[in-house]
Amino acid sequence: MIQITKICCIGAGYVGGPTMAMIAKKCPHIKVTVVDLNEQRIAAWNDPDVENIPVYEPGLSDVVAEARGRNLFFSTDVESAIDDAQMIFISVNTPTKTYGAGKGQAADLKWIELCARQIARVAKDNKIIVEKSTLPVRTASAIKDILIHTGNGSQFQILSNPEFLAEGTAVEDLDAPDRVLIGGDSTVEGQAAIQALVDVYANWIPRERILTTNVWSSELSKLTANAFLAQRVSSINSLTELCEKTEADINEVAKAIGTDSRIGPKFLKASVGFGGSCFQKDILNLVYIARSYGLQEVADYWEQVIIMNDHQKKRFANQMIKELYNTVNGKKISFLGWAFKKDTNDTRESAAIYVADHLLHEQANIAVYDPKVSADQIYFDLDYLATRSSEENKKGVKIISDPYEACKGAHAIAVLTEWDEFKTYDWKKIYDSMLKPAKIFDGRNLLNADELRSIGFLVQTIGTKA
Ligand code: NAD
Ligand code: UGA
Repeated sequence: MIQITKICCIGAGYVGGPTMAMIAKKCPHIKVTVVDLNEQRIAAWNDPDVENIPVYEPGLSDVVAEARGRNLFFSTDVESAIDDAQMIFISVNTPTKTYGAGKGQAADLKWIELCARQIARVAKDNKIIVEKSTLPVRTASAIKDILIHTGNGSQFQILSNPEFLAEGTAVEDLDAPDRVLIGGDSTVEGQAAIQALVDVYANWIPRERILTTNVWSSELSKLTANAFLAQRVSSINSLTELCEKTEADINEVAKAIGTDSRIGPKFLKASVGFGGSCFQKDILNLVYIARSYGLQEVADYWEQVIIMNDHQKKRFANQMIKELYNTVNGKKISFLGWAFKKDTNDTRESAAIYVADHLLHEQANIAVYDPKVSADQIYFDLDYLATRSSEENKKGVKIISDPYEACKGAHAIAVLTEWDEFKTYDWKKIYDSMLKPAKIFDGRNLLNADELRSIGFLVQTIGTKA
């Protein structure tokens, strides 16, 4: 029986930080060290003011405050942490490749391989390696190859333990997950490694919620879970366009189908399109894997989820242009929200970025307000697209820290994130400060359209006829 008392996690991002903070909180007898190459990020995790940690998640600062310095540590000394730990989680980024074979689809496993090589070089005793990052099915065999062929004779067990937390609800999801999934080898050593990780989670998660499988099922289940979730969003979004033509209301349709217990009510919220760092990348990865095995129909089937999502973002921007008399040139358009969903400061793949880019092509002037996203991040997101110069982005987009200021003098408002605070605004005051006719394009189905209409706004809510 292996009793784990020392854990290391490589990668202090949106997954590594919160998951390790929760393990440390629930398991005071385990020393948890989270390491990262990014010095700034580690410094932020160690900031004496816990409100300055680099990931915004409701409740996370309390969890970190409880465990940090007791049995939770953040460090840039990757080698010492690897050397010291019995169990090493790999929680580094696995973005879509931007070069070479598989460009635009395959997962870039460069950082995973670097971790494996570093572990092999540093490890002096046997270790359990846990894939926490989302990885293509069969990655564990590549990691094992590297560890065996470049190591110093230590023995390694590779487990797959994908993370299912959603941003914005990470603390709740980690505290009471629907399930924890652990995949490992069927050998005696593999089963002992699985048991060691089961025992860590069993400190707070009921055993019946801890599922164990073989490594490949676990790896593939993570991609599949994200593909199914994203598919639901694309499915409901595909019908918003039909609703707008036929006067069916997408909220009523979602409710009507969601009450069927076989379908269920979750993930049926129509939107301007899903964002986030994972849905698109994981489906593209699934598509790539299917194609690489010659499974064209399987690949085409899942690719359609992305095609529909891209269509939705473009459609939303085009509809704004159309409703603003086919020109937005020189017009002020206010964006409420930039994050890819509420309660997070993460903007990766946020629909807002693509809607802004589309409107900037048409020479609109955009004013953005988001309660948690910094101006630097917004400009970074736009510059990253490389569709225009940084100066042009700065000229076309202003970041305003007050929502009323952001909307003042605007021709239209686009609601792009479902932040709760937007519902509490004095909409009459906003209406009075805007150019008329004042229009609202609600890409999140967030605001009460009837109330806004009674004030005088022209409202287009996604999935309902204007
Ligand atoms: P992230 O970019 O926020 O964090 C990754 C961190 O790893 C970065 O800080 C980076 O500096 C660090 N890193 C990269 N290579 C390193 C190395 N060799 N040594 C030390 N540090 C290194 O990414 P994330 O959002 O935390 O996602 C991590 C993985 O988890 C991805 O595979 C993602 O698909 C998966 N995932 C993410 C979420 C989510 O909600 N963000 C949820 C489930 C799964
Ligand atoms: C998603 C999954 O929900 C997590 O289980 C998974 O661990 C994670 O991806 C991951 O692998 O990274 P996340 O992207 O953080 O989590 O957030 P979601 O709540 O899934 O939302 C994703 C996007 O879909 C957001 O832009 C959201 O606004 C949108 N969405 C979601 C809708 O448009 N409608 C819905 O009904 C639900």
